Amino acid sequence: MELLNSALIGTGSFAPEKTLTNFDLEKMVDTSDEWIRRRTGMVERHIVDENTASSDLAIQAALKAIEKANIDPEEIDLIVLPTVTPDMSFPSTACFVQKGIGASNAAAFDISAGCSGFPYGISIADQFIKSGTYKTVLVIAAETLSKITDWTDRSTCVLFGDAAGAAVFQATRDNKGVISSYLSADGNFSGGNLLSLPAGGSRNPASHETVDKRMHYIKMRGRELFKLGVKAMAESGLKALELGNLTLDDVTLCIPHQANKRIIDAVGERLGLPEEKMFINVDKYGNTSSATMAVALDEAIRNEKVGSGDIVLIVAFGSGLTWAAIAIRL
Ligand code: UT7
Repeated sequence: MELLNSALIGTGSFAPEKTLTNFDLEKMVDTSDEWIRRRTGMVERHIVDENTASSDLAIQAALKAIEKANIDPEEIDLIVLPTVTPDMSFPSTACFVQKGIGASNAAAFDISAGCSGFPYGISIADQFIKSGTYKTVLVIAAETLSKITDWTDRSTCVLFGDAAGAAVFQATRDNKGVISSYLSADGNFSGGNLLSLPAGGSRNPASHETVDKRMHYIKMRGRELFKLGVKAMAESGLKALELGNLTLDDVTLCIPHQANKRIIDAVGERLGLPEEKMFINVDKYGNTSSATMAVALDEAIRNEKVGSGDIVLIVAFGSGLTWAAIAIRL
């Protein structure tokens, strides 16, 4: 059976209008614009209002991607939605989006892969397309991290923001689209609050006690994650290139997970990629978990940093731990 390619035919992104600057954060916790810029490269992040959920951002991003792809929402066969901030435990956020965009013929599900969700989601889309099961798949990474951020904890609250990014993939016989994907995980890092939201699931169901102990907020040990993240992203990038019979010279642009500018710089150094080949927009959005790479991919394409024929390497790491990389020919 001839395997099909999964062409990227449209991208879109959306962030809420309201921004929270480093100076705003100075008024909320014991921090400074100088510390945040120097340690993270962040300047501002976008934050939703209390009535907005992840699916609302996802719908806006998806509609833009669908417009760019020039397809009818009813052509979409599957919606894959990575998120760590679903609207509810169930039903899936993907089902809310399916209704919101009128994709009435699509199957829909969420995936939980932490910040690596976007490359994990692209790989799922690619498998369904390559196998001939589906023709058109929409991947949307959507996060409202502000809803699970402890605004009294300076070690985390300066880092996170809200946004969504979407990408439409379609079967093609042309030599373009997803070239290779590499997914990995190590559950040995799942415990110990390295990066988790401890309560609200079946381990620690919501109770007065979990609320009093602030267990419904992100818990993170940043310094340890930093080192693991650099290693995981660099190694997964190399793995994806190897699987695609590519070299670093073939890469037009690397889109790393936007957790910290210093992490991105270190990944670039490890890979030996020059600064201009490492995409950075963490200054504008902060860390939006799975959405960072989806928003970055859309910005890189819309701003014509990359175009037809170019090769983009997406690299990610996140809670789990998970790590992943995707090489795509545009
Ligand atoms: O999405 C994937 C998951 N997330 C990540 O990958 C995050 C990875 N980690 C990081 O980006 C960095 O580790 C952080 C930005 C979280 C922290 O930067 P760091 O350079 O690793 O700082 P640190 O945690 O080693 O803390 C250094 C100092 C500490 O003070 P002392 O103990 O040296 O006196 C902290 O208490 O900075 C202090 N600090 C702050 N100071 C001002 C921590 N947060 C803040 C803050 N403002 N917001």
